[in-house]
Amino acid sequence: MSTAPYASPTTHPRGEPSHPTAAVVAILLGILVAILGFFALLMWVDALQARDDAHKTAAAQATAAASMPGMDMSSMGVAAGLKSYAGASPANADAIATAHTPFPATLPAAPAGPVANVNLVLKDVTVQVAPGIKYAAWAWAGGAPGPVIHVRQGQMVKITLTNSGAIPHSVDFHAARVAPDKAFGDVMPGKSVSYTFRANDPGVFMYHCGTKPVLMHIANGMYGAIVVEPPAGTLPKADKNYVLVASEWYLDSDGLSKPAQFNMDKAHARQPDWMTFNGYAGQYVKHPLTAKPGETVRFWVVDAGPSIDTDFHIVGTILDRAWVNAGMTNKPLENVQTVAVPAGGGGVFDVNIDKPGLYPFVSHAFAAVDQGQVGLLNVGGVHGTMTH
Ligand code: CU
Ligand code: CU
Repeated sequence: MSTAPYASPTTHPRGEPSHPTAAVVAILLGILVAILGFFALLMWVDALQARDDAHKTAAAQATAAASMPGMDMSSMGVAAGLKSYAGASPANADAIATAHTPFPATLPAAPAGPVANVNLVLKDVTVQVAPGIKYAAWAWAGGAPGPVIHVRQGQMVKITLTNSGAIPHSVDFHAARVAPDKAFGDVMPGKSVSYTFRANDPGVFMYHCGTKPVLMHIANGMYGAIVVEPPAGTLPKADKNYVLVASEWYLDSDGLSKPAQFNMDKAHARQPDWMTFNGYAGQYVKHPLTAKPGETVRFWVVDAGPSIDTDFHIVGTILDRAWVNAGMTNKPLENVQTVAVPAGGGGVFDVNIDKPGLYPFVSHAFAAVDQGQVGLLNVGGVHGTMTH
């Protein structure tokens, strides 16, 4: 939401006239002050008008959101207080976290051949965003994030999107250079569309539903990552490749007894209840990613947002190489502590850790850690747990 410009009145020092010339100057100055004052008044009226317009726009957006199918309209009133449900947890949260199957972070193999066929299914599905916290998502057949897509630079990518949800959706690939009005249009429930693009730009990119209100469609789980890998030999060899999609969740209830739904007011205020890697708070703390000492581990990180950056950092080491915000045609930065991945952006980070131990990976904007955006890299199969 925009903030109305604020016109502050300016003050002018006024001297005491001591002779006729000074009196004339004083009169001219007086006229000048009057003119300036008049313009200040106009700006103030403008500012009021802009603020009023902003309120009207917000009200219209809220009405539009409230009329979306699947939206709990009763939540709009409750949300005015922006009650946080951060940290809600059932008594058996630890057992649920242990039993949870983590989202597979390992980069799948890229398909061989000149064309990569990608089939995506959008679905209304109840997911868990934290142990025991249910959320009525608009997401993918397998939940949120959607499947990790891996293609090779230069491959033709054929996207087929099937909408099994209740309302129109679409899919926007940041890796594509394609006319969005042709490719990213809405798909009606029960229908499928296909489009192709050549993946010429290497890196890790977000894909997401781009149907309005986009904020709501992304926040409800309609996002994922596509890795466009450069030809073999272009990048230093990596022994492990992990994909992490950072995101926020805005809840209208605690999600314990019944699935929570999206809260637009919290989303506008950027006050999430949960923040996650790969859709579930702390899942790689319970089920750490692994590496052997001396292996090169490559993290392909997308920040799906919808609105908050992730400041990627691995506790206890330094990022040996960092391709910032995708941009893999450039040389990587070397030996950096923390790299911001903007909402809607991606970054690729290499680490090589020789000392066995538990290394937390976090968004170093630490409120995000408290809200679940944290995991562990277990180097050398050590025992024990760590929270940071
Ligand atoms: Cu959608
Ligand atoms: Cu986008």
